[in-house]
Amino acid sequence: MKESSITIPFVVYTYDELSEPDRQLIDEAREATFRSYAPYSHFSVGAALRLANGNVVSGSNQENAAYPSGLCAERTTLFYANAQYPDQPVETLAIAARNTQGEFLSHPISPCGACRQVMLETEQRHAHPMRILLYGTRQIYELKQVGDLLPFAFSEIE
Ligand code: THU
Repeated sequence: MKESSITIPFVVYTYDELSEPDRQLIDEAREATFRSYAPYSHFSVGAALRLANGNVVSGSNQENAAYPSGLCAERTTLFYANAQYPDQPVETLAIAARNTQGEFLSHPISPCGACRQVMLETEQRHAHPMRILLYGTRQIYELKQVGDLLPFAFSEIE
């Protein structure tokens, strides 16, 4: 028997400490929350990603009266990007959210498990690390690759 643990590396920034391109991506993710369709949860999530070719793609959560038919902002955005630009790795993905009062969250939004799984596969299919920026008004977390967000990930490959 041997006890073990996993350490998750991440960097904490304030908005002003970010590079200009990262601030722009956060701004796009914030803007995308205003295009969310969330009449059921009233929780508006926005995502924006920058591809290796420099293109920026954004998206938001899209809900449905048949609840499980809706989709999170991260997957809406990643699937659109992969559908439009199948050969372009995602360099950075930024995520922002507003609560039911319409205010941006003060602490970084944390993506759900299903989105982490899709993020991981996008990273793996392009064999390129995807940086993640989780936005909060007080602080922003940067993870250098999706694998850091999903330890013990499922994979078909041995
Ligand atoms: N949601 C996202 O879009 N991304 C997340 O990371 C967490 C949750 C959406 C799903 C649903 O439309 C609403 O937020 C409330 O759960």
